[in-house]
Amino acid sequence: MKLACGIDIGGSGVKGALVDLTTGTYSGESVLIKTPSPATPDAVAQVCGQVLETLGVTPEIPVGITFPAPIVHGRVPFMANLDPSWAGIDVVELMDRHLGRTIVALNDADAAGLGEAIYGAARGVPGVVIVTTLGTGIGSAIINDGILLPNSELGHLEIDGHDAETQASAGQKTVQNLDWVTWAGRLQRYYSHVEMLFSPDLFVIGGGVSANHEKFLPLLNLRTPVVPAILRNTAGIVGAAFEAARESRA
Ligand code: BGC
Repeated sequence: MKLACGIDIGGSGVKGALVDLTTGTYSGESVLIKTPSPATPDAVAQVCGQVLETLGVTPEIPVGITFPAPIVHGRVPFMANLDPSWAGIDVVELMDRHLGRTIVALNDADAAGLGEAIYGAARGVPGVVIVTTLGTGIGSAIINDGILLPNSELGHLEIDGHDAETQASAGQKTVQNLDWVTWAGRLQRYYSHVEMLFSPDLFVIGGGVSANHEKFLPLLNLRTPVVPAILRNTAGIVGAAFEAARESRA
């Protein structure tokens, strides 16, 4: 069995698992440690070290780590939903210093998009697929014929004068106590705008809330087919592990 490790850094938890790359599923239990507060780079890197230790990840196993921010050649240009002190940090160097190993770093939604493209709802789908993750923010991955266009950040599209994720994320549904119909109205506004800009062949909707997809996906009226993610909350970890293994072979 070919194994790699994925770690997903989120606002509330840092989660990791070993991934069986043949099936795109977890091999054994995942490990979840609360995100430290404040979530500074050093504090989070230490938690990543604990995750690796708990999972028993040996040096030859490739490790991919996802961040809720764009990752441009290993660096974070800005951070919307974690501590702002991440801006400008070289995360590959940071993790090297704390973990004593070279990791592969990628945006969380890009990792989820890769997970869905290789093992899930976008597998083998030709043309342009847009995977969005609805969580605290809105993450996006654009995939064309299986190739990822990284760091698309479509959650920050400005729509009707607002940063889109401040209106339509799943986190805002909870914070603003929106019912499904009201929230679906906001999603409709968001996805029709994205559809107009990109004319995708498929939307894949991920994030924890996609477990309840039957409550809101049928309310959307779009030209583009819309399907729920298959890997759901495991997509980011699976995609990160896949990418780490691919880069370690390159
Ligand atoms: C960040 C993205 C991230 C998304 C989901 C946004 O606020 O800017 O980089 O993918 O949240 O975590």
